Amino acid sequence: MSTTNFPAGSSSASTGISIEKVTMPKLSEMKRQGKLISSLTAYDYATGRLVDEAGIDMILVGDSLAMVVLGQENTLAVTVDEMLHHTRAVSRAVHRALVVADMPFGSYGTVAVGVANAIRFMKEAGSEAVKIEGPRVELARALTEAEIPVVAHLGLTPQSVHRMGGFRVQGRSVDTAMHLKVAALALAAAGAGAVVLEGIPRETAAAITAELPVPTIGIGAGPDCDGQILVLHDLVGLSFTPAPKFVRSYADAGTLIRSAVEHYREDVEHRSFPSDEESYHLPEAARKALGARENAGTLRKV
Ligand code: KIV
Repeated sequence: MSTTNFPAGSSSASTGISIEKVTMPKLSEMKRQGKLISSLTAYDYATGRLVDEAGIDMILVGDSLAMVVLGQENTLAVTVDEMLHHTRAVSRAVHRALVVADMPFGSYGTVAVGVANAIRFMKEAGSEAVKIEGPRVELARALTEAEIPVVAHLGLTPQSVHRMGGFRVQGRSVDTAMHLKVAALALAAAGAGAVVLEGIPRETAAAITAELPVPTIGIGAGPDCDGQILVLHDLVGLSFTPAPKFVRSYADAGTLIRSAVEHYREDVEHRSFPSDEESYHLPEAARKALGARENAGTLRKV
């Protein structure tokens, strides 16, 4: 099949409406044009659809799902197979945004293992890029050589929670800020198409953003990054834990869902759900015949 004459945009098969697909090069173009990049996590078909339809540019199937979807204490236990399962659902839902799969803890301990697992995310789950935590420059190079777009992740990297001694802001001294900048530049030179900067001072993030040729996507890194990302469940009040200082709450979906469920329970308990209109009915003739048969049965018993 020829792949050389497709139009630049693409269209949604379900709606036929032309949409311009967000790609990794498009994110760099946005940086060059000074257009800010919006990004959020999503973990399944419903959240993938909602986030995509809201026009978010980059959707990360984050390993934060271990905490906000699976109820674990940190992100360490989630497996490649679990991440593949969720990534598949999000990929099915998304038409416009760039879908990035988070490589879970332990899935890229060596370059060879990392490339093999990243290929699984692209082949089996439809992701369009993978995210890796830490200054894994050789891995970023090998993934790029394998045609796998890479999003790097520096600063407060949750998979390093035990080494960092907790979820602590990073890059607070001149030395550590410089280390982060050197790492970000090395990752970009190795092929990373974007760098997530998490939990670092605004000034550190601004200095990195100013020098990096590829976009920085901040979370708890101040407003000077090329884009922002948040965990969807934090944004809509579904996290069940006190939100960190950098989270802004945009909705209280928890209260909305709890109240809807309570109303449903009350309606069931009072037999006001389902109503006659919410029930299926026999056709008129069958209803009469059934009535007649029931009457005959009743008469026989008398
Ligand atoms: O797993 C995740 O959700 C993340 C983002 C917070 C960047 O890594």
